[in-house]
Amino acid sequence: MRRERRHSPMQLDRYSEGSMEVIILPDAARVAEVAAAQFADVIRSTPDAVIGLATGSSPLDIYARLAELVRAGELDVSRVSAFALDEYVGIPEDHPESYVSVIRREVTEPLGLDPSRVHVPDGRAADIERACDEYEAAIAAAGGIDVQLLGIGTNGHVGFNEPSSSLRSRTRIKTLTRRTRVDNARFFERPDQVPTHCITQGLGTIMDARRLVLVAQGEHKAAAVAAAVEGPVTAMCPASILQFHPHASVVVDEAAASALTNTEYYRHTYENKPPWQHP
Ligand code: F6R
Repeated sequence: MRRERRHSPMQLDRYSEGSMEVIILPDAARVAEVAAAQFADVIRSTPDAVIGLATGSSPLDIYARLAELVRAGELDVSRVSAFALDEYVGIPEDHPESYVSVIRREVTEPLGLDPSRVHVPDGRAADIERACDEYEAAIAAAGGIDVQLLGIGTNGHVGFNEPSSSLRSRTRIKTLTRRTRVDNARFFERPDQVPTHCITQGLGTIMDARRLVLVAQGEHKAAAVAAAVEGPVTAMCPASILQFHPHASVVVDEAAASALTNTEYYRHTYENKPPWQHP
């Protein structure tokens, strides 16, 4: 059954100015704690929340922290649904690095999510285009994504929307850049085993989520974070589209923040955040 859709980001935009919040924290452990707390807040206020999942290294400690909260009885995820951002094309489902395996291992099992409510794009579908359309339809039928977790590629991608992706794109097949395949080679035995294609939620799909939480840790992400937050909005840095989102948080450690220039303002804003401002 179609879940009633709460306000869309654009409706929200009509009565709140909306802006990107940049939260700079001392280290990766604090990034995980703060981002997990943001997810936990959404789930506590919306027990049937639809959460958006990222894979890769950046979100792992966040999932571990959420699992801890569940185990401690401080978070109930029994009614939560989830949608992953992306999946490799052509990788067997039981390959340990297929995103369907990664999501099962890192999220569904540790958090005890109902597996029937956890969705990953089908990179093995005979008709990929149809699988993409069905994924979009499933997100819409679930009522849209309440909070989407994002990592950022060293080339500024979010999901697998590589530089030059359409800023309004929907879920579709994409060719991975050489840079992304080199970056992700660490997950595979040999670099040539990294798949060449993927299915990814589009930038338009991601922007439809009611709230976005982008996390980045480490100096190797500093240039991409600076381009996304302080550079021009451009398809050459897909993460820069977040500047248009009315409720996006960028949660970074000192190293990932090291190329930002407006840091005094971000720190001041976060440290003096009034209780009426959205969490
Ligand atoms: C993965 C994804 C990618 C990663 C990005 C960063 O689902 O959507 O955008 O978030 O490549 O990867 P890590 O976290 O491994 O540095």
